[in-house]
Amino acid sequence: MSRILRLVVETLGHRGVGIGRHQGKVVMVPLSAPGDELEVEIIESHRSYDEGRILRLLNPSPWRREPPCKYFGSCGGCQLQHLEISYQRREKEKIFSEMMESGSRVAREKIGGILSGQEEFGYRCRLDLRVVWDRGPRVGFSRRGSEELIPLESCMVARKKINDVLEPLGGFLREFFPWRVSRVEIACDDSSWGFTLFLARRGRETPPRERKFPEAARELEGLRSICMGRTEGGRVETLWAREGGPLGVWMTVNLPGHGEMALEVWPGVFSQVNPEVNQILVNIILSWAHKLKARSILDLYAGMGNLSIPLSTIASRVMAVEVDPRAVENGLENSRRIGAENIVWIRNSAAKAISDLVSKGERFDLVVLDPPRAGAKEIMGAIPLLDPKGVIYVSCDPATLARDMAIVQRESSFRVQEIVPLDMFPQTYHIESASLLLRPEGAQWS
Ligand SMILES: C[S@@+](CC[C@H](N)C(=O)[O-])C[C@H]1O[C@@H](n2cnc3c(N)ncnc32)[C@H](O)[C@@H]1O
Repeated sequence: MSRILRLVVETLGHRGVGIGRHQGKVVMVPLSAPGDELEVEIIESHRSYDEGRILRLLNPSPWRREPPCKYFGSCGGCQLQHLEISYQRREKEKIFSEMMESGSRVAREKIGGILSGQEEFGYRCRLDLRVVWDRGPRVGFSRRGSEELIPLESCMVARKKINDVLEPLGGFLREFFPWRVSRVEIACDDSSWGFTLFLARRGRETPPRERKFPEAARELEGLRSICMGRTEGGRVETLWAREGGPLGVWMTVNLPGHGEMALEVWPGVFSQVNPEVNQILVNIILSWAHKLKARSILDLYAGMGNLSIPLSTIASRVMAVEVDPRAVENGLENSRRIGAENIVWIRNSAAKAISDLVSKGERFDLVVLDPPRAGAKEIMGAIPLLDPKGVIYVSCDPATLARDMAIVQRESSFRVQEIVPLDMFPQTYHIESASLLLRPEGAQWS
């Protein structure tokens, strides 16, 4: 039998879920806002908390606004569109600080205010969409909390170029890819000129060759290339690429004393989704590396060189470690084109690379790591063995960051000097951050 109760939401928790109390027990309600008075149905009961859903908004929070996107609430992509952007950022800053203070005992004064770009919508240069086939392909995101697909005509956090592609994409897939593509990634230049498609298919079958396909591709304005691989990873094929053009899209960073540096991102290779906030991130990393006078730098989880190549302009030697072989090829090509001759690329897992470097007695002034959401707990104990003056940890998940920083602070004398949260993903609960760790007895820092 369903339980219905009245609840006042007190605060916003991790993952942007509203939290209130009923008879002393915590009740978590997605899509609610602190200050909301709600009628809530309890849909799942646990020992220490209940999960509810909004039945009626009795008295709205002053921080609420009308969510601008028609899919908000059903689509699982955004969680915070019903909150004013300044309030979203204030709350993210608070949630982030609480997680760092409680999870890895970082002093409050070491945590900076959240930095953001100008754009709260239309910022994403890359969108990873699911494809479900029934009578034809349906392209979209998963429904919030379920596997069901919400077909999308547009996405408000994506660049206009990506939205222009979404409309013809279904027809294009139906005509030329009538086999099981289960994911499509659309990426566009930061200037929003050209775009690429990466198609992921399940299973082992090879796609049939389609003769009409290149002409059709030409009709999608700005399309540079189409690559295909398996969802499980492995070999990636270029199905089509415009003659004489780049294979990928461009991501530009502006470097002090060097001007603009354009990095190419191949279809299917990781890139930061928000170029404006990526520029802020690169500036922070460069300024820390510069202050540390870091001459030799190890960049772990290097992708296509988004951090390694800018860092190579201030260091004498950079070693970039990346597990994805195509990202390494892409990074090598970027380094070659830009003339960054002081970067050595290593195709390996971060754990294996560190263990090899430690056993060879290698040393670095600075270790930078930018792992995926799962974090880097397997390497935190080994990083101090490379004897760096500083460690910079770029994270997209405060929970794994707090866990990993607790490990390194427990197992070595490294302590957090500074942390900067970044609003890389407005409208969602995700928080990017950059942290600098130093040894108290080590580097001079002013
Ligand atoms: C969050 S991205 C960061 C990439 C790059 N630093 C950037 O700013 O674009 C994480 C990268 O780590 C790579 N990766 C994932 N697991 C890895 C591992 N165990 N060892 C090394 N690289 C890994 C991924 O392929 C991806 O390119």
